[in-house]
Amino acid sequence: MRDVTKDTITDAFLTYLGEETDERLRFLLTKLVRHIHDFVKETELTHEEWRKALELLYKAGEISDPERNEFVLFSDVLGLSSLVDMVNSSPDGTPSSVLGPFHILGAPELPVGGDMKNENVGDTVVVGGRVLTANGQPIEGAEIEIWQTADNGLYSNQDATQPGYNLRARMTTDTVGRYLFSTIRPAPYTVPDDGPVGELLHATGRHPWRPSHLHFIVTADGYRRLVTEVFPSDDPYLDQDAVFGVREELIMTYRPQSDPSTLPDDLAIKDQLDGSFFVVDFDFVLSAA
Ligand code: BEZ
Ligand code: FE
Repeated sequence: MRDVTKDTITDAFLTYLGEETDERLRFLLTKLVRHIHDFVKETELTHEEWRKALELLYKAGEISDPERNEFVLFSDVLGLSSLVDMVNSSPDGTPSSVLGPFHILGAPELPVGGDMKNENVGDTVVVGGRVLTANGQPIEGAEIEIWQTADNGLYSNQDATQPGYNLRARMTTDTVGRYLFSTIRPAPYTVPDDGPVGELLHATGRHPWRPSHLHFIVTADGYRRLVTEVFPSDDPYLDQDAVFGVREELIMTYRPQSDPSTLPDDLAIKDQLDGSFFVVDFDFVLSAA
């Protein structure tokens, strides 16, 4: 098409899509290009503003490496990652939440009742519950991956002072769908704000904090994989998570307790608990695949 105008450029783009274009790709590109063309027209975007946006993307590329993906972080702080999560969340299961960049494969297997706290400093927390179907039936043999920050707010793969796989585990639910482990209270932390995402956060008066959380991936044959996080009800950042990961159903209470005799017998550190500790109960509900 020649003599393209601002009223015809969107259709002109669409005429360029060849017949071999996959149907879903055609649909996505059509919507995307319509929205971004409308965005430019509605905002009367200036050259300077667009140059600045492209410069941020260039810097995102420069700072990214196999350990750090600044584009994912942009998606997170703009609410896009969470929106994709919510659009794809199953209505009858535990809500999903952001995976984040700190998950690694190969965490050690811990038996039900095992201790993940080891030498870590911090309040002892006993976390347990069941993995259930949407009808409330227990799922035996579900695999749960767990990872969290140490009390300095860092994950083991961000902090050379922590042993490899510190505060990471895999657990398989028992015959009644149960999981149970002891750990420390995770600490709130900031998303990396020393790159272009930080530039955007600072320019808009936003802080980079996430409320403290435990990450979980729960899988079982015949069920949808659940990637989620669980947040303590008393965290000061619950209502201002930098990456919009909090959902009401993912908030649980850390119940302070002092009597270990109330704890299940298969908790490995039961006999070592003296002073106060916290108990968290949380069930995961998986949707059928
Ligand atoms: C996390 O929870 O690990 C995380 C999520 C999004 C951005 C940065 C960290
Ligand atoms: Fe995290």
